Parts: sequence; C-alpha cells; structure tokens
Amino acid sequence: MTHHGSERLRIVEVDPFDDAALDAWHAVYAAAETFGYEDTATPWQLGEARVLLQEPTSDTWAAAWSGVLGDGPGASVVSAGWMETPLRDNLERADVTVHVLPEHRRRGHGTAMLAHLEGVARERGRSILLTEAHHAYAAGPAGAGEPGPEFARARGFTLGLGDVQRELRLPVAEELLDRLAAEAAPHCAAYTLRSWVGPVPDELLDGWAEVTASLMTEAPVGDLALEPEVPDSHGVREREGSVARQGRTTYDTVALDVDGAVAAYTELVTTVHEPGRAYQWGTLVRRAHRGHRLGLAVKVANLRLLQAERPDIALVTTYNAEVNDHMIGVNELLGFRPVARLAELQKIL
Ligand SMILES: CC(C)(COP(=O)(O)OP(=O)(O)OC[C@H]1O[C@@H](n2cnc3c(N)ncnc32)[C@H](O)[C@@H]1OP(=O)(O)O)[C@@H](O)C(=O)NCCC(=O)NCCS
Repeated sequence: MTHHGSERLRIVEVDPFDDAALDAWHAVYAAAETFGYEDTATPWQLGEARVLLQEPTSDTWAAAWSGVLGDGPGASVVSAGWMETPLRDNLERADVTVHVLPEHRRRGHGTAMLAHLEGVARERGRSILLTEAHHAYAAGPAGAGEPGPEFARARGFTLGLGDVQRELRLPVAEELLDRLAAEAAPHCAAYTLRSWVGPVPDELLDGWAEVTASLMTEAPVGDLALEPEVPDSHGVREREGSVARQGRTTYDTVALDVDGAVAAYTELVTTVHEPGRAYQWGTLVRRAHRGHRLGLAVKVANLRLLQAERPDIALVTTYNAEVNDHMIGVNELLGFRPVARLAELQKIL
C-alpha cells in the first residue's frame, strides 16, 4: 500500500483543558462528520465533548486524539479519534470513531488513527470495538459506496445494526396530538402518565434507572455484542449533572402501572449549542407492558410537554433500528420522515 503522508502523522492525545488543542480536534471532527451530509449530520458539539472529557462520570471513560501533520507553527490537525469505554458493565467494549478531513482522505490517516485506537483499546482490556457511521439514506443499511461504512468494512468491522435517522418538523398540530392520544387512551387506561423537565423526581428515580438501563438490550440490538446495562440510581443523578453542564435540558414522560412501577418512558433533549433543535433519546416499553399503545401515549405526551415549554424548537431528530417496526410506526404517525442512516458496526479484536 502506498499511503503517502501517513508516515509523517503524529497521533497525540488531546488535553481537554488545553482550549486550542480541544478546539482544533473538534473542528476536524465536526468538519469530517458534516462533509457530504450538510443537511442531516448531527455532530457532537464542542461544549458537550468538553464536559465528557474534562469531567468523566464514574460509568464512562472518554478520551480524544488528534492526528497532526507537520511540526511547529505549520503543524495542522487532519484526523480526529474518539473513544468511550463503559466502566460498570460491557467491560469488553470500546466505542470509537475516526474522522479525517475531506481533503486528506485516502492516504491512510483513517487507518493510522484506527490502529492507534485499537492499541489503546487493547491496553484497556477491551476486545469489542463499536463504531457508528452516518451515511445517505439512499445507500441502504450497508452504506455501499459511503466513506464511513466502506472504511469500517475495509478495516474489519461488520454491520451489527442498521439505524434510520428521522426528522419531525414542529409544531405537530394539536388536533393530531389530540387524535393520537384519544386513539391510545382506551388501550392504556390502566396506566398513569407523568411528565417533567430536568432531573427525574426522587420517587421515580429507581424505576427510571431500571427502565433506562434496559433500553440497551430490550430495544433491537441486531448482531451487536451488547450486555445488559447495570441499573444505577446514583449513576442517573451523576449523568443528569453531566448533561446539564453540557448545556442540555431533558424532557421526559413515563407511564406508571397500577403499582406505580415505570412501564414505559421517553426522553427528548435540547441543547443550548443548537438552538431550535431537539433530539429524541430513548423510548422503551417494558416487555411485560407491550401491546397497550404506551409507546404512542408517552411520545404524544412528551411532545406536548416540549411544545408547551419550548415553542422555539422547530425540529426533532431520532434514530431507530430499521427492524424496530413498532417504534417506527409510532414515529410515522407523529410525522417523522427518514432523512439519513446510521450504520452501527462492530469489530472483534
Ligand atoms: C471514514 C474516514 C475516517 C476514512 O478516512 P481515510 O483517511 O480516507 O481512510 P484510509 O485512507 O485509511 O482508508 C482505508 C481504506 O478504507 C476504504 N475506504 C476509505 N474511504 C473509502 C471510500 N470513500 N470509499 C470506498 N472505500 C473507502 C478503502 O479500502 C481504503 O483503502 P484504499 O484507500 O487503499 O483503497 C473518512 O472518510 C471520514 O472521516 N468519514 C466521516 C467519519 C466516518 O464516517 N467515520 C467512520 C466511522 S469510524
């Protein structure tokens, strides 16, 4: 192989307290993530990454690396690497991403960064690498011809799960929300809905910890080697602090059964770094409670909450496994439309 230039590449860990180094890393990451997908890319914002790197939580370790060409004042960052490892469960897993500036691609810089990340993963006792590659909807779940999936495949990853990214323009008409809520109501009359903004109410904390931890394995996982997450109420509070310091606000709705246990949940998130946007995070109906239209009920209630509290939000973005017919059905009723894909790929070291 003739990878011109890669021999001069230095890979350096980013000191998250060095603003210039962190900015340079993030600029490369964001430019590479967005290139070619200007209308649909959803890169992590600098202020969000900074908090994750500067103030790690007890359940996740995170670090970033820059690939630097040249020395001294002429040095420039051309590639960006990221790794997160769970610390409480999934102890063999390392989540990685590799990004290379468009004008520096196909010279081996991506390969060099990935090799570095694999070394770090091994040192940290990790043997399962997971990565995500955003790509065009029309390319299908495998992302044929798209840089991210093609690169990952060339470097030994296989597709574990194909996700579809969907978007919803807000506001959703009140009449539609009324109609959908009325449709769900007779099926879930035995449940109570509760919604809130920000931290989970104390009396729901343990139930919330359990239901959110189960998302990882109760939602479709395809061929990904994911282990169940360990529920941890202290961890929930810790993450809430981290999310708030990242400039994010959460909007949550749960369905409680007759005993007050959390049967279903859904969570929307806004960020000060992206005015006008919200992201749909997890939604889950516990297995024992499926078939009561709770997925629709919690999503309608949560959208009502968001629309009431945040009339400034014009767009919601969500990701679903392509095989998740029920969740997608709910999303299409609300008006979500597909715009792009995300391939979740895995490599066993
Ligand atoms: C994916 C990405 C990191 C590749 O960076 P890169 O420096 O071009 O990668 P390399 O030069 O090391 O490529 C290694 C091999 O991957 C494959 N590959 C990389 N890009 C490809 C493309 N656009 N189409 C087809 N194959 C490709 C090729 O087999 C290539 O070897 P070759 O150039 O000898 O044919 C870069 O395109 C990028 O930043 N994309 C956006 C972020 C992303 O999707 N990352 C993937 C998830 S980690």
